[in-house]
Amino acid sequence: MARIEIPEDIARRFASARWVVAFTGAGVSKESGLDTFRDAGGVWQRERPEDLATLQAFQRHPAKIWRWYAERFRNASAAQPNPAHLAIARWEHLFPSFTLVTQNVDGLHQRAGSRSPIELHGTLAWARCDFCGSRREMGEAVEASPDAPPACDCGGLMRPAVVWFGEAMPMRAMDEAAEASSLCEVFVSVGTSGAVYPAAGLIELAHREGACLIEVNPERTPFSRLADLHLEAPAGEALPALTEAIERWRIPTA
Ligand code: OAD
Repeated sequence: MARIEIPEDIARRFASARWVVAFTGAGVSKESGLDTFRDAGGVWQRERPEDLATLQAFQRHPAKIWRWYAERFRNASAAQPNPAHLAIARWEHLFPSFTLVTQNVDGLHQRAGSRSPIELHGTLAWARCDFCGSRREMGEAVEASPDAPPACDCGGLMRPAVVWFGEAMPMRAMDEAAEASSLCEVFVSVGTSGAVYPAAGLIELAHREGACLIEVNPERTPFSRLADLHLEAPAGEALPALTEAIERWRIPTA
């Protein structure tokens, strides 16, 4: 494995930052064995998003969509956090303010120790009623009803508590993410193609507001040209290297 070099000026800036944002996408969980969406082997290479990740698809084929999310839930539950998730959990303790914003629904950040990630696209951990909004743990719902969405007491259908294409983003989560992105000094974008808005707009916002932008992705993205540093490496290697650099240059607080 080639050593990942972090330029000293970036490492110093990172180490002395008062507010850091980590923004993650499916690539951060790739080394945990979970599929990404758009790169080689990704989910949207095999399936069309509108057939699986829209309310219309759920209304047309509830059992098919439920089974697909039940399988994703099982895969996520069986996966283990990798060194990238663990590095991000560690960063929470290294800066006066730290915000983790994720597009992922797999829960691996929390299992690595991150306390309160902003989950822009919801979570697989819960099912919620399509009609009244009441919630139930996904594990328990899937076990009780593996092949079709269980009915809610109100007569509605339970669905995964994720955000589907065409649905509104959770407003408070988006507001908090936008505030953190505009105020942070360092914004680290990890494992996202930046293809889905409004989430990807946070990268532009942070850059426009003057944050040092670090991108971690083995491939280039439309945002690579904005980045102060693009680490062309898997997150599980690049993030521990960033932690090492931060710890080298950090001025310990009393
Ligand atoms: P994508 O699949 O679009 O992008 C994943 C990115 O991770 C790609 O740019 C890869 O190059 C990169 N990647 C692959 N392996 C990596 C590794 N080991 N380390 C770091 N990066 C790696 O996934 P997202 O950007 O998360 O939304 O997709 C955004 C949204 O689109 C998802 O939240 C989901 C999807 O449709 C909804 O379902 C609403």
